[in-house]
Amino acid sequence: MTKRSITELLSQMTIDEKIAQLIQVTPDFLTDTEANLTGPLAALGLSEDIIHNIGSVLSAVGAKETKAIQEQHLKRNRLGIPLLLMADIIHGYRTIFPVSLGLASSWDMNLAERTAEAAAKESAVTGLHVTFAPMVDLVRDPRWGRVVESTGEDPYLNGEYARAFVRGFQGEDLSADTDRIAACVKHLAAYGAAEGGRDYNTVNMSERQLRESYLPAYKEAVDAGSELVMTAFNTVDGVPATGNRWLMRKVLREEWGFGGVLISDWGAVQEMIAHGAAADGAEAARKAIEAGVDIEMMTPLYVLDLKRLVEEGKVDEALIDESVLRVLRLKEKLGLFDNPYRGADEEREEEVILSGEHRAVAREAAVKSAVLLKNEGVLPLRSGQKTALIGPFAQSGDILGPWSLWGKREEAAQLYNGMLTKTESSLLRVAKGCDVESGSEEQLEEALQAAREADIIVLALGESSEMSGEAGSRGDIRLPKAQLDLIARLKPLGKPMAAVLFNGRPLDLHGVIDEVDAVLVAWFPGTEGGNAIADLLYGDSAPSGRLTMSFPYAVGQIPVYYNHYNTGRPLTPENADQRYVSKYLDMPNDPLLPFGFGLGYTTFTYAKAALSAETIRPGETLTVTVDVTNTGETAGEEVVQLYVRDVAGEVVRPVKELKAFRKIKLAPGETVSVAFELGEEQLRYYHSDLSYESDEGEFQLFVGANSRDAEALSFQLVK
Ligand code: NOJ
Repeated sequence: MTKRSITELLSQMTIDEKIAQLIQVTPDFLTDTEANLTGPLAALGLSEDIIHNIGSVLSAVGAKETKAIQEQHLKRNRLGIPLLLMADIIHGYRTIFPVSLGLASSWDMNLAERTAEAAAKESAVTGLHVTFAPMVDLVRDPRWGRVVESTGEDPYLNGEYARAFVRGFQGEDLSADTDRIAACVKHLAAYGAAEGGRDYNTVNMSERQLRESYLPAYKEAVDAGSELVMTAFNTVDGVPATGNRWLMRKVLREEWGFGGVLISDWGAVQEMIAHGAAADGAEAARKAIEAGVDIEMMTPLYVLDLKRLVEEGKVDEALIDESVLRVLRLKEKLGLFDNPYRGADEEREEEVILSGEHRAVAREAAVKSAVLLKNEGVLPLRSGQKTALIGPFAQSGDILGPWSLWGKREEAAQLYNGMLTKTESSLLRVAKGCDVESGSEEQLEEALQAAREADIIVLALGESSEMSGEAGSRGDIRLPKAQLDLIARLKPLGKPMAAVLFNGRPLDLHGVIDEVDAVLVAWFPGTEGGNAIADLLYGDSAPSGRLTMSFPYAVGQIPVYYNHYNTGRPLTPENADQRYVSKYLDMPNDPLLPFGFGLGYTTFTYAKAALSAETIRPGETLTVTVDVTNTGETAGEEVVQLYVRDVAGEVVRPVKELKAFRKIKLAPGETVSVAFELGEEQLRYYHSDLSYESDEGEFQLFVGANSRDAEALSFQLVK
């Protein structure tokens, strides 16, 4: 259908038909009808008529089911307008890849793109059209359960991942490639800054901070062509994002030029009432449509109130037309008017879903996501070692993580099974030791028995999937007490211990990292998790992940992140014993492990970095070169990181900001020269009047292995 005929279609629609295009519900609303009058339809006050004209459905998957839904819908829809089918395909459909915070640790955009491509393909053959991903909320508070869905605390890195995910989901040409699905970047904006890390909580920050740190990744996703954007649950400067005209009309539509579909988060239009920003449903609906929210997810206010608001002259019908046009255009772009079933194909489902190819990507991704935090000579495991694998995640399929709705735990490679492929079964004992959040004396005894006979203990510890994700905030982010007790009971045996952690957030590692000889963070590694971690434990692969979110020393420091400001009284090694400096009396300022940190099985040394010039002017390029040498015995990967600090700005500047990185693989003894180019554009920032420009003066530049251990150089910007 051409653009003109979409407009023609709009002109044939009644106002009820138009408004119905703007509501989204789950498929149970569509499955007939009489029972439904007392079920979901009645609950939302929706009539059958509305359902026959509805625009989109969420969470319908499976080629057979989606075809049936579409077919039935087209029979009942007067103008034959197909449904859009959307779902949360966050880190895989059935083949589950590592959670985003894990995958981000790979610092590998190509890998991220390939996981999204595979996820898109598995979803497309089930008949899905849109995924509610990527989630690109910048995060600084590991108490917030949804840090698991984010790529971390850095605006630049988050932006790179945002682009990679959008490319992976949508491909080059969404219209032509039915193995791809449309992306929906979320949650605009700053959902990751919920106060106290409590989900859905208030967000409070200046516009300058919003633009400097939080908005860039959404903007990157929009620039990469994300077809949809989802609003956040939270307020932005006192106005719920879903009714925030400034954010949605001015920033998203006008400044960024976004012409795609804006969808509310689940129930977020109605939640404006609870926020105290709308007196009733009609006011909430009016505010949302005025902000430019095209689709209302899972509440009925548009269909219940908009028509009357138009009749009373309180809402301009043109706003509704605009939204309907955007929805119809997306349907057109996806080719649904020509083929409403798009990629849905039962035969291809068999071939594509959980294919060997996708499992291989999942294994590679899980290997590259794992971060080695400590290793005092115990990893990799040596052949012939008698090993006791102990912990609630030793034989658990709960390694897929939150948002793996169609992943199956029984299809996940458990750690024990992965290890059995590497060692003789007679050398591997296994015991649970405790459950995730509780334990018994019998379980402990069994673990002690297994451990006594072993040369080394591998602990499989962590959080269950339910302990992070949406509404998964925790105030205490240590491992549950039962697991800390397990470590404490095993410790007196005096055996070497290596802990593998399955977790959805940076944890407070007291009682773990200080008690064991090695810590490998596996995150929620997905379907191939156990095989991938076994690859790493036995040295068939080497850990290469680097943290993209700081691991705090303790909850009391939070928020703790590398790109903070200096304060007027910064703590230094020289003034540490003075009182009136910015510090805690009872814990360090620094996180336990900083952004960018991760170990491998080899060591790297950095030669002194060299600058091509001491000054730089707009239009010029400064080249920073550093030689990195693998000084160990085995091959390994290193992420060489470049940070900048603007020493004196018009407003205060972060003590470090990541500007570039390079992931390199080096054979033992090999030296690689890494060159970064830096231009004046990368030194710009938002001033107090929100102008985006650079300032003359001194800049520091840091090249190194992480945000803490990096050599400082300096140069001048002259304008
Ligand atoms: C609520 C979540 O906040 C959002 O991320 C998700 O996409 C929607 N529900 C739909 O499931």
